[in-house]
Amino acid sequence: FSCSNSPTISFITLLLCRASLVSCWAVAAPGHDPTSICRKARRLAGRQAELCQAEPELVAELARGARLGVRECQFQFRFRRWNCSSHSKAFGRILQQDIRETAFVFAITAAGASHAVTQACSMGELLQCGCQAPRGRAPPKPPGLPSLSGTPGPPGPGGSLDGNAAWEWGGCGDDVDFGDEKSRLFMDARHKRGRGDIRALVQLHNNEAGRLAVRSHTRTECKCHGLSGSCALRTCWQKLPPFREVGARLLERFHGASRVMGTNDGKALLPAGHTLKPPDRADLLYAADSPDFCSANRRTGSPGTRGRACNSSALDLSGCDLLCCGRGHRQESVQLEENCFCRFHWCCVVQCHRCRVRKELSLCL
Ligand SMILES: *[C@@H]1O[C@H](CO)[C@@H](O)[C@H](O)[C@H]1NC(C)=O
Ligand SMILES: *[C@@H]1O[C@H](CO)[C@@H](O)[C@H](O)[C@H]1NC(C)=O
Repeated sequence: FSCSNSPTISFITLLLCRASLVSCWAVAAPGHDPTSICRKARRLAGRQAELCQAEPELVAELARGARLGVRECQFQFRFRRWNCSSHSKAFGRILQQDIRETAFVFAITAAGASHAVTQACSMGELLQCGCQAPRGRAPPKPPGLPSLSGTPGPPGPGGSLDGNAAWEWGGCGDDVDFGDEKSRLFMDARHKRGRGDIRALVQLHNNEAGRLAVRSHTRTECKCHGLSGSCALRTCWQKLPPFREVGARLLERFHGASRVMGTNDGKALLPAGHTLKPPDRADLLYAADSPDFCSANRRTGSPGTRGRACNSSALDLSGCDLLCCGRGHRQESVQLEENCFCRFHWCCVVQCHRCRVRKELSLCL
């Protein structure tokens, strides 16, 4: 099974595909059209193969979402010793472990898949879904509306909130349920038929925690209508959170991740330690300690931090002391090309020159 003809890439692919099929496409096959992905993916789990056959354009959105997730991982981890760099075999090793970093990658790619499919639906890019159908139940209190003490939430669509501000569902709502379901169907497929081991349970939990970070922060947005801004009527719709926000929330969960272990029969997870609070659905789980990621190690998938750019004045993780693991750093003056003298031309192009600038970089020894 290979996603590409390049030997390095097919090796990465093999590793990643065993851990998570979509993350494999995410890094190994950007720009591949879905039908070719599906044609080449002969070893798919049954349900994934079905989806590939029946809905290749949906699978393309899922893969796009997984790539979105990996890029977000790279942004959120940019100052960490392990920076989520996916351009090496090492990434595959990370995906085959039960450490916090693995948890984050699984969560963010499942979240990305859910987000991308939902967005594609709203944009009208998929035939099988669209904007969210107006819902029967009332939205949570639309932002900016006065809360009504004594009344159990706003009345249903078409109703009136306080005698004059009526509202109804309208516009194009994001149908997060659809994206959620497809992400679950596809991203979890591999594990469902698995051995029911601890790793599979942890991964399924983290996939779900990722999707929850999208779903539970979907908000209600409203627009006012009426004469001269009187807001006699409001139209409200559901709106996905920006993916950057999903990444930031999952990073918080990464910091507070819970260590778990399996029960004796291997069918459930327990907190590893009596004093630990049981994790909830939104928490990320891990079962093994991360390496320190200081030096390169094939077994753990650590590329090491030699040559990484660090910040000599920062005291946090991005600072040279921590990032270089106490090995010290050297200064290097490098020539970079940057956009400069940018001008906006009506309408709508920005034209820039490329300028050479000298920059002092601190690089880990
Ligand atoms: C991430 O780390 C790798 C190697 O550890 C390095 O080559 C790459 O430049 C780093 N990426 C960023 C954005 O710092
Ligand atoms: C380096 O760290 C300092 C202190 O935290 C910060 O003000 C500065 O913006 C950082 N520089 C870069 C290039 O990130």
